[in-house]
Amino acid sequence: MQNKVTRRSFIKRALGSFLTVAGIGAGGYFYAHDIEPKLLDVTRHEIKNRRLPAGFDGLRIVQFSDTHIGFHYNLDTFDKLMDEINSLAPDIILFTGDLMDNPNEFNEHERIVQTLKRLEAEFGKYAIYGNHDHGGYGSDIYKKIMEEAGFTLLMNESDSVTLLDGSSIYIAGVDDAMLGRPNLEAAIQGIPKDSYTILLAHEPDQMADLAAKNNIHLQLSGHSHGGQIQVPFYGPLVTPPLAEVYTEGFYQVGDGEGMPLYVNRGLGTTRLPFRFLSRPELSVFTLKSE
Ligand SMILES: [Fe+2]
Repeated sequence: MQNKVTRRSFIKRALGSFLTVAGIGAGGYFYAHDIEPKLLDVTRHEIKNRRLPAGFDGLRIVQFSDTHIGFHYNLDTFDKLMDEINSLAPDIILFTGDLMDNPNEFNEHERIVQTLKRLEAEFGKYAIYGNHDHGGYGSDIYKKIMEEAGFTLLMNESDSVTLLDGSSIYIAGVDDAMLGRPNLEAAIQGIPKDSYTILLAHEPDQMADLAAKNNIHLQLSGHSHGGQIQVPFYGPLVTPPLAEVYTEGFYQVGDGEGMPLYVNRGLGTTRLPFRFLSRPELSVFTLKSE
């Protein structure tokens, strides 16, 4: 409880200083509250790896994350998002957690299912748990929604994507690190050594350092919201626990050439209904074999 009060007052103070420091006044408030949260950045990235079988060259993956439906993110916006994602013609769609801000308070579960069902990807749709998906006894609700919508929910497990030529890549997912029980060892169990493997982990920190040592070739995360509010020359104002080291975008984690980690800024907001210099994001990855 102590922790909660402290955090809340910290956020209040942080917001106060944000408004003061940025000196943005009413116009800035309007922008951060009504304009930027409704924008959408589609970021595109190419990822080369010699472990990627040639048949997967050009594979297109779309990642979306942290919608926080119910907290200043409504189902009409979510519906439009589905069109945006489908228009990117993804081969694989990945969701990296935090679907609803509070699964127990948001009741239109069936409409979420019908909306998510519209997403189309030939090689599958995968999802993992975020902290908000477990929050408020939401674990079963989230699982039911994602599975009914045709997503494979990866909770410390993996799945393979196999082409007609017999070559495969693997997608592994760990449970949420804050409210679940992540187990990387279980998640990658059975994956043949050196097979190209993508890991989904809601929180980037710590797991990325572990993944970099465990034959993971790409980690995709969310959770940070890019800090939601970025102060020029200062950086993100509030970074959540386990997204303090890796807050946004690409990182090479570990020794040598390192493992690429990508932290998506997410689409919705939580705690504070603001975004400033941290636009909502859809990330598109095109895989290249060397
Ligand atoms: Fe989130």
